[in-house]
Amino acid sequence: MYRIAVLPGDGIGKEVTKGAVKVLQAIGDRFGHAFHFSYGLIGGEAIDREGTPLPEQTLHMCKQSDAVLLGAVGGPKWDSHPPHVRPERGLLQIRKEMNLFANIRPVTFYSSLSASSPLKSHVIEGADFVIVRELVGGLYFGKPSERRVEKGEETVVDTLFYKRAEIERIITFAFTLAQKRKKKVTSVDKANVLESSRMWREVAEQVAKRFPDVQLEHMLVDNAAMQLVRSPKQFDVIVTENMFGDILSDEASMLTGSLGMLPSASLSVDGPALYEPIHGSAPDIAGQNKANPLATILSAAMMLRLSFGLTEEADVIERAVKQVLDAGYRTADIAQQGDCVLSTTEMVEKVKDAILDDV
Ligand code: NAI
Ligand code: MG
Repeated sequence: MYRIAVLPGDGIGKEVTKGAVKVLQAIGDRFGHAFHFSYGLIGGEAIDREGTPLPEQTLHMCKQSDAVLLGAVGGPKWDSHPPHVRPERGLLQIRKEMNLFANIRPVTFYSSLSASSPLKSHVIEGADFVIVRELVGGLYFGKPSERRVEKGEETVVDTLFYKRAEIERIITFAFTLAQKRKKKVTSVDKANVLESSRMWREVAEQVAKRFPDVQLEHMLVDNAAMQLVRSPKQFDVIVTENMFGDILSDEASMLTGSLGMLPSASLSVDGPALYEPIHGSAPDIAGQNKANPLATILSAAMMLRLSFGLTEEADVIERAVKQVLDAGYRTADIAQQGDCVLSTTEMVEKVKDAILDDV
């Protein structure tokens, strides 16, 4: 039996996780696996009901599980809350508490979606790379992070902090991944300005010596942002700091056509991993049965492959998604004029049908 902790969170998080659970159940039916789902609160709803964005009970349940499936957190209702009771704090906290240091975001090109991307199809066709984002350090965790009054003037500070070992761990992870892929690592930094980036670069050079079969290149983050839309095919594995990775992966999602298409896995050293779409709670479409559930469904496929070693089952989900897209089914975010637009629940049903029909 596989124990999966499900944290739907807020907004469309609830809708897309419900869809992914249905898809996992379909896989369970077809392959004879027992998936046991237990549910926990995180984010805004957790604040409303428990007074904290990450209740102790949720964290305990996640640590006891074999893997975690998360939707998204946040929304305008909680925007005016002080920093320690904001929904996003729950997310940062669970990443830290479970030591989820490596966030992997594969960017896959779907030929049937090339018209949904704002980029020209000859630019994106064949692009296939992974962004490895350091997830428990960097600018999102460094202290101090606060406002102060200094000499009567209001000031503010955030801190980009890393220990050498943290940089080494994520870069080694990226090299190990590249070794199984196209054997190229692009280490993205801002070494012309930031001291932290200069150390990042130094560590990357050192790690590269242990992987003579993998090519290392360094790229400044502003150039990387440009190269992602100019010639994304040049990339294999991109490894970078927490905030740089956050920004670049939203940008990269446009290669597929929508934020609603990109899955992610966050891996720890030894504990359970967490799987979530890269998008947020999309308050603008929440509760309308409009959200694209595919990023979360593809995150569930990553869970099967990476946490449970169920490779064939993961392949079946990914094939089902491709088939559904090839057949022209679209949620609103990836639809073109004249396409038949499906709701979230209809899209989930199409994927389930494709899973059960797939031989
Ligand atoms: P967002 O990712 O929620 O939405 C950005 C845009 O993309 C919106 O127009 C939304 O409708 C669309 N979109 C996102 N996912 C979609 C999907 N699956 N299907 C169709 N359209 C989709 O980012 P935004 O608007 O900046 O943030 C909204 C809230 O989500 C904020 O409170 C933010 O803090 C939170 N957030 C949470 C994240 C998480 O839980 N991992 C990540 C990013 C934002
Ligand atoms: Mg983001």
